[in-house]
Amino acid sequence: WGRVGHSLVAHLAESLLDERALKWVKTRLTNQMSEIAFWADTIHFDTDNLFGFNAWRWSKPLHYINTPPWDCNYIYERDCINDRCIHGALKNYSTRLKTFDNNVHHQQDFFFLVHFVGDIHQPLHAGFNNDAGGNGVSVRFMNSTATTNLHSLWDTGMLTHRMRTEFAGNINTYYAYLHSKMLNEASKINDDNFTQWASESLDIVCKQIYFNEMNVTMNSSIRYNLGEWYYQRSWPVVEKRLIQAGARLGALLNRILIKHTEST
Ligand code: ADE
Ligand code: ZN
Ligand code: ZN
Repeated sequence: WGRVGHSLVAHLAESLLDERALKWVKTRLTNQMSEIAFWADTIHFDTDNLFGFNAWRWSKPLHYINTPPWDCNYIYERDCINDRCIHGALKNYSTRLKTFDNNVHHQQDFFFLVHFVGDIHQPLHAGFNNDAGGNGVSVRFMNSTATTNLHSLWDTGMLTHRMRTEFAGNINTYYAYLHSKMLNEASKINDDNFTQWASESLDIVCKQIYFNEMNVTMNSSIRYNLGEWYYQRSWPVVEKRLIQAGARLGALLNRILIKHTEST
């Protein structure tokens, strides 16, 4: 997701935190969770360090999982070698946050975890390795003259369009809408199986994101024109994944952070 998606997911999650988890967060963070949710992407923009390369380069593969083209089954041993993928990152950062050590602030672990629970729910963050999760597929959206790509359309393009056309571009209004929708559906969203979250994303990729002619080609020289029909079948998916991500992140943090406050 982009800034808006990550911010919405974190805000939804924060609204579900119980007293203990909230206390853990507040003692380490002066910000709202929504303000730190995008941090893990901002560190990639920064290249001017002493050595002329980005010190966070190692964390790039932790934002996604890719499978071979049209392989719609995620296989941990094949697709997440040495845990260098988003599934491995979720395992590692949640384990680190569970480890009880009051001398360690775990702030970065927390920032990464908040971000990656969001990303694993963006379907194309479990995509195909031949087009980098849709980054290599050029598209036009709603007859705009601008060229974007399929990944970016799912990260931000459709979300921005929905917010602008239905919520007057107001993120607070949109958040309130998502929040009440989440509370209505919360009882249906209660697992914490990272493999399943990734598999759900890949399933959406296989069934809903690429379409007819794209299925055959995924040709990088074609610029696909995606309009109203694509938007109408896609926005409910975007919204569902944001809500699931928020509900699951909230529940996960409540489970993880309880350990820290039990013994203090
Ligand atoms: N780079 C390569 N594959 C990617 C994916 N699935 N999502 C985001 N960035 C990527
Ligand atoms: Zn993305
Ligand atoms: Zn990311």
